[in-house]
Amino acid sequence: MPLRVAILASGSGSNAQRLFDLNRAGTLNIDPVLLICNRPGARALERAAQAGVPFLMLDHTKEADRERYDRSLVAALKDARAELIVMAGYMRLVTPFFLNSFPGQVINIHPALLPSFPGVRGAAEALEYGVRLAGCTVHFVDEIMDHGPVIIQAAVPVNPDDDLAALQTRIHALEHRIYPQAVQWVAEKRVHVEGRRVRVLPAAARRAVMPDGSWLVWPPLEEPF
Ligand code: GRF
Repeated sequence: MPLRVAILASGSGSNAQRLFDLNRAGTLNIDPVLLICNRPGARALERAAQAGVPFLMLDHTKEADRERYDRSLVAALKDARAELIVMAGYMRLVTPFFLNSFPGQVINIHPALLPSFPGVRGAAEALEYGVRLAGCTVHFVDEIMDHGPVIIQAAVPVNPDDDLAALQTRIHALEHRIYPQAVQWVAEKRVHVEGRRVRVLPAAARRAVMPDGSWLVWPPLEEPF
């Protein structure tokens, strides 16, 4: 049975789209049971509708506090029998109640090489700082923002004439490869957390895709990601 995956989004939802597309193509093997978005009118909702994935808009401004909101969220996710919660551009901190409801089952993608540049301006702060390598990180979610154990990271060079849009485009392109790869590893039950360290068990028949020299992903992506 494919892993039952729910997605939390707040905005454009291009990472969610990528998961839907690769799943339809058979590259990923998941059951996308629900997409929840906290912002009315967000593009992510449209994308779920078009992909035929059940979706729900839970407006956080309608709930009295964070915990109440998370209780509605957890109820919907439990109803959908979600086994993995994928945060894809979900711009809210979750409560301990939420995390305790899905222990070790929540992952996030962040547009920087953690632990550098956590927070909502990750890529912008990396550019302003003047780093030569920017990137993105897929990690488990814990109670501290952008902090849990790291599953996979990708590094991209920062060019001297990059503006934020150019850098974000480069980072996004790699997000669209490493996030589905990480989800597939979890779906194959190959991801093991040992304290802060994550081990991805090897798959006998899978060939690693080597980087082209202008970026680095570790652990290596496996074909066809
Ligand atoms: C991505 O850059 C991701 O790293 C961050 O939010 C953005 C979401 O993009 N957490 P999208 O909504 O998937 O297009």
